[in-house]
Amino acid sequence: MTTVTADLAMSLDGFVAGTDIGPDHPGGKGADALFQWIHNLASWRERQGMTGGEDNVDSEIMREWFDSTGAVVMGRTMYDTGEVPWGDEPPFRAPVFVLTHRPRRTLVKQGGTTFTFVTDGIHSALEQAKAASGGRNVDIAGGARTVQQYLRAGLIDELQLHVVPVLFGAGLRLLDNLGAEQRRLEVIRVVDTPLATHLKYRVHK
Ligand SMILES: NC(=O)c1ccc[n+]([C@@H]2O[C@H](COP(=O)([O-])OP(=O)(O)OC[C@H]3O[C@@H](n4cnc5c(N)ncnc54)[C@H](OP(=O)(O)O)[C@@H]3O)[C@@H](O)[C@H]2O)c1
Repeated sequence: MTTVTADLAMSLDGFVAGTDIGPDHPGGKGADALFQWIHNLASWRERQGMTGGEDNVDSEIMREWFDSTGAVVMGRTMYDTGEVPWGDEPPFRAPVFVLTHRPRRTLVKQGGTTFTFVTDGIHSALEQAKAASGGRNVDIAGGARTVQQYLRAGLIDELQLHVVPVLFGAGLRLLDNLGAEQRRLEVIRVVDTPLATHLKYRVHK
């Protein structure tokens, strides 16, 4: 059975993006702080076609995502804000299904990434991603509104949060809009490094 994951970097006060998300600030203002732990990792650099970088536990955690993910689902805002920075060879190297209300032709990029635009909802996007994943995980990559819908529908098996020691004060919260129902999670791994605390949970159904 395919494991459905969600894996996001989050500020200590719960934000996955800053304010004023747009072309000038893809992750909102101040979002660089959420991703600084990634930029010099050997696994991340390798995925970008570069050499060098730190080969540490943060790098192993990033490599695990690359190795285990066979397809990705994301929201149209994440796609729009990532389109330019990801360039011609996006780092996914896998089929990506973009939730949107705006039909668009599938884009085939270099390095194995395709972007298929799905207009008939979260279940359809997930089924298409599972079918394309080659038996590996499907990752619900973001943004917040997309992950929230899958969490609310009970469709995420594992949630990994890379909690970065920064307080945003404002921005886009991940764990909002989940309804009043109590949800239980089981901690399956905690890895603490100076750059981030990596918390991995199994989400009980
Ligand atoms: N910290 C992290 O690790 C991380 C990870 C990923 C993303 N992010 C950040 O998150 C931000 C984007 O998050 P977001 O919550 O604003 O937006 P989002 O979830 O990326 O996208 C929302 C959009 O997706 C489409 N959509 C969502 N659900 C749909 C459905 N059921 N049916 C049809 N279309 C649907 C809609 O687009 P249409 O208007 O086209 O219908 C909606 O406006 C960005 O700043 C990104 O950088 C952070």
